[in-house]
Amino acid sequence: MLNVNRAWLITHENDTLQPDTQAKFEALLARRLRGEPMAYILGGREFYGLALQVTPDTLIPRPDTEMLVGVALGRILSDHQVDVLDLGTGSGAIALAIAKHRPHAHVVAVDASSAALEVAKKNATTLQVSNVQFVLSSWFSALETQRFDVIVSNPPYIEQNDAHLSQGDLRFEPVKALASGTDGLDDIRRIIADSLVHLVPQGWLMLEHGYNQARRVADLMADAGLVEIETVQDLGGNDRVTIGKNPLIISAHWS
Ligand SMILES: C[S@@+](CC[C@H](N)C(=O)[O-])C[C@H]1O[C@@H](n2cnc3c(N)ncnc32)[C@H](O)[C@@H]1O
Repeated sequence: MLNVNRAWLITHENDTLQPDTQAKFEALLARRLRGEPMAYILGGREFYGLALQVTPDTLIPRPDTEMLVGVALGRILSDHQVDVLDLGTGSGAIALAIAKHRPHAHVVAVDASSAALEVAKKNATTLQVSNVQFVLSSWFSALETQRFDVIVSNPPYIEQNDAHLSQGDLRFEPVKALASGTDGLDDIRRIIADSLVHLVPQGWLMLEHGYNQARRVADLMADAGLVEIETVQDLGGNDRVTIGKNPLIISAHWS
């Protein structure tokens, strides 16, 4: 609004604001007093070192989700031309962080919200990331038979009757980005069930989930036929990400 730095503010603490600037400030303050998240008021949030635009059409990327990016980067060698899929990309946070750190990867980022995809595309342009392709799709539906080396997702996983949905920042975020059926697992169930046909042999599925959902997510992955299932904790020791691998091995006849 003023376009000045902190030093200027400190040295001009007794200046009076112009009436129009004062009015703009009061309008922003009123939004904050109503509880609107700072990220929506400022229009941005940093994620994995990237300055992302966010709007009320997108989830505000959480520091917790940086763990999922770290797990994915740990399994994508920097000089490998791998195909990566980010399901439910929102602002593009995960897809853009992976694409930026793995310029040889080709990342497909899907979302069912065209408004969110518009924000994600703008972020890709601003950050000069060109190895991400954005696709409007309900989970895998528009991807036909495409297969990926790594599929990552931070899907909606909150129980639809969870009281937190009507508290704090969550009140302002798109409910379709947050809630997923009575046990919070409707979308995770769908993603896991359809994942094997979209993973290359030995490809990885990596899902963020709630702190108390790891056992059920691991069981769903095992039921679907994934192997080497492992849960990773965040810095607070909470189960945060579960991964599983497509057990198929590339046949010598195909290679
Ligand atoms: C928890 S948000 C994650 C956003 C972003 N990946 C992040 O971590 O900040 C879940 C995202 O999934 C999207 N989504 C919900 N249902 C979907 C569906 N059926 N197909 C594709 N995306 C969906 C929402 O629009 C939202 O952007």
